[in-house]
Amino acid sequence: MTNPIPLHSRHKSVLPDWLALYYDRPIELTHGEGRHVWDADGNRYLDFFGGILTTMTAHALPEVTKAVSEQAGRIIHSSTLYLNRPMVELAERVAALSGIPDARVFFTTSGTEANDTALLLATTYRRSNQILAMRNSYHGRSFSTVSITGNRGWSPTSLSPLQTHYVHGAVRTRGPFAHLGDGEFTAAAVADLEDVLGQTRGGVAALIAEPIQGVGGFTSPPDGLYGAFREVLDRHGILWISDEVQTGWGRTGEHFWGWQAHAQNGPPDILTFAKGIGNGMSIGGVVARAELMNCIDSNSISTFGGSPVTMAAGAANLAYLLEHDLQGNARRVGGLLLERLRAIAATVPAVREVRGRGLMAGLELTKPGTDQADPEGAAAVLEAARAGGLLVGKGGGYNTSVLRIAPPLSLTVAEAEEGAEILEQALHQVHGVQ
Ligand SMILES: Cc1ncc(COP(=O)(O)O)c(C=O)c1O
Repeated sequence: MTNPIPLHSRHKSVLPDWLALYYDRPIELTHGEGRHVWDADGNRYLDFFGGILTTMTAHALPEVTKAVSEQAGRIIHSSTLYLNRPMVELAERVAALSGIPDARVFFTTSGTEANDTALLLATTYRRSNQILAMRNSYHGRSFSTVSITGNRGWSPTSLSPLQTHYVHGAVRTRGPFAHLGDGEFTAAAVADLEDVLGQTRGGVAALIAEPIQGVGGFTSPPDGLYGAFREVLDRHGILWISDEVQTGWGRTGEHFWGWQAHAQNGPPDILTFAKGIGNGMSIGGVVARAELMNCIDSNSISTFGGSPVTMAAGAANLAYLLEHDLQGNARRVGGLLLERLRAIAATVPAVREVRGRGLMAGLELTKPGTDQADPEGAAAVLEAARAGGLLVGKGGGYNTSVLRIAPPLSLTVAEAEEGAEILEQALHQVHGVQ
């Protein structure tokens, strides 16, 4: 007999209060196909959030489903104590794609754990627990990663194993340098970095940064800023960790990795990834040159990291992405979508800014006639879009007033147009038309 209590009530009774759900009437998604998902009541939605940028290629992609079921039929688990062909094969591909010379790859089960590993490597290598992180950042939910998360809404404790110094520069259109041109903005952020370093005692281990901040509301610095930071970091021997959990695998269209918009002084020392590579199977990982990866002088394992089923899924997913040039699709369709969103925004004064790159677009909403964040307005548009058959996300350091759009990278032009139309109606419904 099925339980008669509504699932939402059961959720609230047994799961933590801080496990936030979208929507007044939360949705139970039961299946998906391509860029669409269905809820338990049979409603169909165009999915413009991909389970937080994680359904990277498509829902129910036959190639991934086949790889998972074939591998599950052979062996589901063996652990890192035994040779694991799917893990070695995916590591070879990721190492070659990473842009990091003499690369070694360590697989984890999440982005949090990938960043935690990057912090372990950097602090061990540099013999320092000091980290530079960006304001408005998000790097995960563990004890170490909340302490490098500059977004109060996602950082529940000030206790920390690390000493973190926050740096300006990741939010282009707010903050003390927002009025400056790109070159001056970068120079001011570099001067701020130098100033912060001047205030530190002893060496700093690393700077960690998301090339485009995800949870922070798809904010980014001018291109080249992290490359300019690199010059300063190099003078001090400080490592650069690029958190590519949201920006990896071609999502930004122009680049395969977000760091490539900042590449004038070479690749980062450490790169972390997760989300899209597994298309929903739990894969995270760290890439670093051998000297850095091997600086740990005790044993380490990950019981589930690199498990054969997830690795088979990742390999099939990555092969599909590369063979179908989904990075190119993100550039083309994402470019059209951004253009369309900018045209819509021109008719809705509450949209302060449309920003992003490839299939990673953010619409920041403000209270009409002000520059103040409008979280209620963003929540209302999210609801209205859902009612119209479109799922989008929310984010932003300024009280989650940014609508986040990040569909699977196989999005078609017709789907982009359909989603933009639903969003336009939702915005007009909530905010009226100019
Ligand atoms: C940039 C970034 N880093 C790290 C994480 C943490 O990843 P996970 O939720 O897989 O632990 C996230 C998750 O949203 C993220 O956006």
